[in-house]
Amino acid sequence: MKHKVIILDNIYWVGVNDRRTHLFENYWPLPHGVSYNSYLIDDEKVALFDTVDRVKSDDFLENIYNIISDKPIDYLIINHIEPDHSGSINILLDKYPRLQIVGNSKTFAYLEKFYGITENLIQIKEGDTLDLGFHRIKFFMTPLVHWPETMVSFEETKGVLFSGDAFGAFGTLDGNIFDDQIELNSIEEEISRYYTNIVGKYAKPTKNALLKLENLNITHICPTHGPVWRSHIKDIITKYTRWSNHETEKGVTIVFGSMYGYTEKIAEYLALGFANQGINDIKIYDVSKTHPSYILNRIYQKKGVLIGSPTYNNALFPKIDGLLNEIKNIGMRNHVLGVFGSSLWTPGRSVRLLKEFAENIKWEFIDQTPETIGNLTSSVWEKCDALIEEMVKKL
Ligand code: FEO
Repeated sequence: MKHKVIILDNIYWVGVNDRRTHLFENYWPLPHGVSYNSYLIDDEKVALFDTVDRVKSDDFLENIYNIISDKPIDYLIINHIEPDHSGSINILLDKYPRLQIVGNSKTFAYLEKFYGITENLIQIKEGDTLDLGFHRIKFFMTPLVHWPETMVSFEETKGVLFSGDAFGAFGTLDGNIFDDQIELNSIEEEISRYYTNIVGKYAKPTKNALLKLENLNITHICPTHGPVWRSHIKDIITKYTRWSNHETEKGVTIVFGSMYGYTEKIAEYLALGFANQGINDIKIYDVSKTHPSYILNRIYQKKGVLIGSPTYNNALFPKIDGLLNEIKNIGMRNHVLGVFGSSLWTPGRSVRLLKEFAENIKWEFIDQTPETIGNLTSSVWEKCDALIEEMVKKL
């Protein structure tokens, strides 16, 4: 008999793992895959929380059948309609044509646009409840964590929060699905990379959601991706509180683009200088080698940011330019910025363009801007030293 994945009593995980898709939202790398989590409560009424990406709908239907056999599903609760969670709705309806779909008014507007579904809908709003028999579900609107329609469902009897994208992670669930069964340190980056790149732009809505949910007696958090939280609930909520408040830690991130190694030499010089000043947490990223999702994640969390670029076709190095746009788009805060560059044809151009970014982003800026013209000279090193000295004071 196929194994059942029990969350608690008659609450089950019926999600799937996707090890084949390389890019989440066709953009964010998935070196460790991703899980699309769906949950089922087998009560007098059977309720399903979200579906899965359509690429995995067959496995999903099997997982449901494994729990309820030929019983019908009464309710599909849509906490989040992004297609990685709603993509199997039509296939589900083919098999369970009488199920009723529970969602809010925005959910249903999007449901019609995506799938043309307008019938068998139960529209709920903030604070409404749904009785399944033993279990009772209460709904809380959490708009923009991650889309405008997003809500969470709280199972009041046992304290299980179906949290949508909040508290999620990249990476598959390899047998073990609970936080206390997994070496959390090994997935730390996939938790924060998920937050930064998927939810991070919506820090304020996330903060509002945390405030709204803070008095619930939560025993389990069941997100739409990644592990189920039952032993480290306080830790993950603390992390989300810190991130949604834009709190940054002492540390330096040095990001550079470089064609022939001259801008990279400045990055190396800066890193050694920070090390000599006693800064332990230093990381250098070559923007040509590392996907922005990793760099953005690192920047989001550490206070010191140094960005270097050569002048390229009279503009910034293209991947640096792209990264700067993503930083602006996420709306990162609480950083100290230094910039450095390299120009040959038009001295001053690279750092001037980087300064435009600095003016725009409104982070604290250190106006010591080393730029090399050709190979590095002592005047560049001196400017680097001044930059290091001032930044260390502000970390
Ligand atoms: Fe996993 Fe916003 O969807």
